[in-house]
Amino acid sequence: MNDNIRSLFDISDLSVEEINQLISLAENIMENPDKYRNACANKRLATLFFEPSTRTRLSFEAAMLDLGGNVIGFADASSSSTQKGETVTDTIHVVGNLVDIIAMRHPKEGAPLAAARKTVVPIINAGDGGHNHPTQTLGDLLTIEKETGRLENLTIGFCGDLTFGRTIHSLVNALSRYKGMNFVFISPDELKIPDYLKEGTLKKHKIPYMETNRIESVIMNLDILYMTRVQKERFFNEADYLRLRDYYILNLKKLEFAKKDLVIMHPLPRVNEIAVEVDDDPRAKYFDQVKCGKYMRMALILKLLNIEMD
Ligand code: CP
Repeated sequence: MNDNIRSLFDISDLSVEEINQLISLAENIMENPDKYRNACANKRLATLFFEPSTRTRLSFEAAMLDLGGNVIGFADASSSSTQKGETVTDTIHVVGNLVDIIAMRHPKEGAPLAAARKTVVPIINAGDGGHNHPTQTLGDLLTIEKETGRLENLTIGFCGDLTFGRTIHSLVNALSRYKGMNFVFISPDELKIPDYLKEGTLKKHKIPYMETNRIESVIMNLDILYMTRVQKERFFNEADYLRLRDYYILNLKKLEFAKKDLVIMHPLPRVNEIAVEVDDDPRAKYFDQVKCGKYMRMALILKLLNIEMD
């Protein structure tokens, strides 16, 4: 790997100061889109998705197009030479010769980092298995900042599949570095937050947290409720998935006990865990999250390509 190239594999690759700068830049892009319309003219992004995606891939592509750049890539590894036995490292090595920056999703944990060994362009982890999803986190942080006006002194409930939920792992990691956070982990016993996050991140930053399997007993205390899907693709056993998939369904009745200014988030896609009736509640912010994700990806692309605007 070239040490002069800055990539993003894990949200810890960015300091809090850098994250805050990205948030300010994203807000500036949001307010002045014309200023950035040609910022990436003659630059090319590759989106290499070895695992399905709607939001992340299209959001990266929209981000680069809105910066005046170009995009190539694949949305399905079955149409790539992976099918002929090419390794991911070789694929990334080849594509690195064709583009200026790569966004990559892969079902194996750590694949983007491993594949980056021979690459001379920045690589962005667009989700690696049940591990990390740092650019989702960037969009989540902007959403929280916009909706609450702060990134401190918040009680945040994380609900659903906390074991395999990569969006949760990255967001917990990021928020742990801000002041006054208090976490509530809501999951069935089989899908609890991993020990490595409890022992490493939460203890290291002295974050107060509790674990429960009942959303009803904690919803009234939350400033943010971050719902997630039980992910069929991460289960080895169909019976376990079927047993757990509808464990939590957030509906208007449960929300009667929540704060009036609760912010309801979800990385999407949703399956059953938020009833459609909640979509019209002013506290539902999960579709706004998608827009924030695009602006943060624009800011990140500019940063990793060292493009500064006056
Ligand atoms: N939030 C998210 O990663 O969605 P996609 O899987 O559709 O990219």
